[in-house]
Amino acid sequence: MGQRIPLLEVKDFTLQFKQYGRGLKQIETRVISGFTLDVHAGEIVAVVGASGSGKSLLAHAILGILPSNAATGGSLKFKGEELSQSLKERLRGKEISLIPQSVSYLDPLMTTGKQIESPLRKAANAVKSVMNRFQLGDDAKNKYPFQLSGGMARRVLIGTALTSGAELVIADEPTPGLHKSMVDETLGSLKELAALGRGVLMITHDIDLAFVVADRIAVFNKGLTVEVADAKAFEASPDNVKHPYSKALWHALPQNGFHSVRGKDYGEEIDAGCDAGEEDDA
Ligand SMILES: Nc1ncnc2c1ncn2[C@@H]1O[C@H](COP(=O)(O)OP(=O)(O)OP(=O)(O)O)[C@@H](O)[C@H]1O
Ligand SMILES: [Mg+2]
Repeated sequence: MGQRIPLLEVKDFTLQFKQYGRGLKQIETRVISGFTLDVHAGEIVAVVGASGSGKSLLAHAILGILPSNAATGGSLKFKGEELSQSLKERLRGKEISLIPQSVSYLDPLMTTGKQIESPLRKAANAVKSVMNRFQLGDDAKNKYPFQLSGGMARRVLIGTALTSGAELVIADEPTPGLHKSMVDETLGSLKELAALGRGVLMITHDIDLAFVVADRIAVFNKGLTVEVADAKAFEASPDNVKHPYSKALWHALPQNGFHSVRGKDYGEEIDAGCDAGEEDDA
């Protein structure tokens, strides 16, 4: 990747929540610690980690949509510029687009056609082509989110992000509940975006999805980057990754024996299972 400035640069990022414990005592819970990752233009980087490990919070921190009791440390940069809250707000939906994990991110008062059209500078025929591509027939165009099935709503979210023209697309578990053909269509679209020179950060608990599309895979455990591996090398053999947790994820795959391996078998005090945590909303 040479000396090019990354599109997204995450360095020593930390995230904690302030909460009230017993007796109104304020306690801090650290969710992400010392997370470091770059995404360059033209590449797909996957963040793979178990449910509850802080993946969505990472996406929300980049977008500037964290809950008010969250505090962050370290650095997040977009094209070399520190992402302040005001910069995040300026870039959100324009230069940086999110395919959110939950379909509740759709505006309940906007029809499908308007949702897809909204980030476009020129609507033109783009709405129609995206609607066709994601099998949202003409009748879907005038429907509101409450009239859509879960799978349709998810396809609207994907279509909206893909038409945005954003330089960085963050896809947070983009495919659960989708039919296989739509999963392929979505992954194909992410690949196309990268081929067009955009950067893609794909968040998933499913390492097999990451193997299909990602150039590099950041293995994330309990908010910590355990390592960033080359996707093809990782897929080929667990000998190509260093950390016991990454090796355990590889061994847990059905095609690699489906071993319900626990991290402690590799001398770690962590579980290796990448539990699903997915909403089957089709
Ligand atoms: N507002 C909040 N206050 C306190 N803790 C929170 C808050 N929001 C999230 N958390 C905690 O932060 C942790 C990480 O949540 P996050 O949603 O980022 O996980 P995730 O890796 O995306 O999981 P999944 O794969 O299930 O989507 C969870 O344990 C969650 O309980
Ligand atoms: Mg999540």
